[in-house]
Amino acid sequence: SYTAEPFVPDRGGLAALRRAAAGCRGCPLHRDATQTVFGDGKAGARVMLVGEQPGDQEDRQRKPFVGPAGKLLDRALAEAGIDPADAYVTNAVKHFKFTRAEPRKRRIHKAPSLREMTACGPWLAAELAVVEPELIVVLGATAGKALLGSSFRVTRVRGTVLEAEIHGRAERLVPTVHPSAVLRSDDREAAYQGLVSDLKVAAQALG
Ligand code: URA
Ligand code: SF4
Repeated sequence: SYTAEPFVPDRGGLAALRRAAAGCRGCPLHRDATQTVFGDGKAGARVMLVGEQPGDQEDRQRKPFVGPAGKLLDRALAEAGIDPADAYVTNAVKHFKFTRAEPRKRRIHKAPSLREMTACGPWLAAELAVVEPELIVVLGATAGKALLGSSFRVTRVRGTVLEAEIHGRAERLVPTVHPSAVLRSDDREAAYQGLVSDLKVAAQALG
């Protein structure tokens, strides 16, 4: 089955991981995407934010959350009092998955499958082992399922502090909605305030 495992180095810090991830062929998603989008931030960051997968802009710029969802997330983090310098930002899946309605047309985001999320898990495990965050902010259902299993329901647990064993480590997590879901919402302002209020729970848990 698909797995990133043989590509993950067993020593070295974030730079070594990023370099190795650039050559990952652990699942078929590397074929159509431009490049691997590895996490961004410092080892020792107090909080790790986990999204779904890079989008179109992230795929081009090789950096997570630089597109519209990222702009909204940055604003919400600032409003909740979380310093971006304290945050390590990454995704459950490191390659952009998309379809095109027609050749040469706009690339449309497609949700990663459970197999792809599972395949990419060793990268997230390696990031957690190096960064050792005090808290994980889970952005949306895909990240939630990747980290906490397929029974995860964001509506049930958002804005609460969970404790769970993630890749063999005892972690504290605060789930919230994905910033892209805020952008798609019929009531954007209410959805945005909901995201900020969940992030305030995370800020408080960080102390
Ligand atoms: N959405 C995500 O889940 N991650 C990104 O990096 C960008 C958009
Ligand atoms: Fe490797 Fe993850 Fe990319 Fe699949 S999505 S090729 S497992 S980095």
